[in-house]
Amino acid sequence: ALNISLFPGGPANFSTYINTKKIFKPYPIMSTTQTNKIEIIKAATSKINEVDFDNLSFGAVFTDHLFECDYKNGEWQKPVIKPYAPFLLDPSAKVFHYGQAIFEGMKAYKDDNNDLWLFRPDENYKRFNTSAVRMAMPEVPEHIFMDGLNQLLQLDEAWVKKGKGNTMYIRPFMIATGEGVIANPSDEYKFMIILSPAKSYYAGEVKVLIAEHYSRAANGGIGAAKAAGNYAAQFYPTTLANKEGFQQVIWTDDATHTKLEEAGTMNVFFRINDTLLTAPTSERILDGITRKSLLDMAKKEGINVDVRPVLVSELVEASKNGSLKEIFGAGTAAVVNPIIGYSYKDVYYELPKVENSYASLLKEKLTNIQHKLAEDTFGWTVKV
Ligand code: COI
Repeated sequence: ALNISLFPGGPANFSTYINTKKIFKPYPIMSTTQTNKIEIIKAATSKINEVDFDNLSFGAVFTDHLFECDYKNGEWQKPVIKPYAPFLLDPSAKVFHYGQAIFEGMKAYKDDNNDLWLFRPDENYKRFNTSAVRMAMPEVPEHIFMDGLNQLLQLDEAWVKKGKGNTMYIRPFMIATGEGVIANPSDEYKFMIILSPAKSYYAGEVKVLIAEHYSRAANGGIGAAKAAGNYAAQFYPTTLANKEGFQQVIWTDDATHTKLEEAGTMNVFFRINDTLLTAPTSERILDGITRKSLLDMAKKEGINVDVRPVLVSELVEASKNGSLKEIFGAGTAAVVNPIIGYSYKDVYYELPKVENSYASLLKEKLTNIQHKLAEDTFGWTVKV
């Protein structure tokens, strides 16, 4: 059932390989149409009926189609939407050797009228190109990013389920596909968008370890870019933390390990008495879109917000004197995720249970806006 045209130059045994991997099984091509300059190759059948939408592990299931646009000879080539399937790359492609790769995380939501909405997509688009520049990659033109995203979502809209808690996680990414192991920027790239229906990122309660030795980012580095390597670099220390029962590490500044920065999959907020604190963005911290939305929402709710470096010593002191009320993470995938305790220098500090937490208030307000259950006075939602 392999349509070989999807894999030009592929090895003869490639079809055997992919047919054993159910999720990657390619589709026979049904029809080819041109819409708004994007070529659309539809899958003949959908795998939607194989998916249990009530039991989704984050990022494990992908929709029927993907969007792809290649960059070569100094320009972006013709974009295409086609059946979700693996693709071939030369073993010397630079992404494998030098990690020239960036991504974004966005979500789409369906309201009660079956209309599809994006949340602040312009912010993701801008950040994607900021990351591209930092990683010496070409910027993706707005019409390619936005038209590709909109048309892909429209084609696979049946995969976006209604109701709060149901979302479509969107993963735009770009990799260096140019060949040769000389260590310089690639001259060829692939920009893609894939879609994954998603519920929550963390299944249960989240406990964190505060970093004392390892660092996620340093001044002058790539911490503010959504570069693939930023995540790879966290895997080893996070695995060590996982073994001790912590889901995440809260990274501290590399120079002194005294300032609380971010949690790698999310920005972090602290509530001391009734003040909501979070670190300012910097070269070391990702400029999170959920982060800045929560700050705007908190201000509107009349919450006292203080964006400034937050010290580990303050946090420990606040735990000891009872003024630390909440810690929570904020990110596209994680949404707003309460943290129930943290460990620092081998001492575990448990957070108190608070009524009317800022985390639950802000999460409720945010998801109501995203799902069009409350008026979007900020103008953040954009119809697909
Ligand atoms: C997101 O929240 O979209 C991210 O990119 C974080 C990722 C680790 C899932």
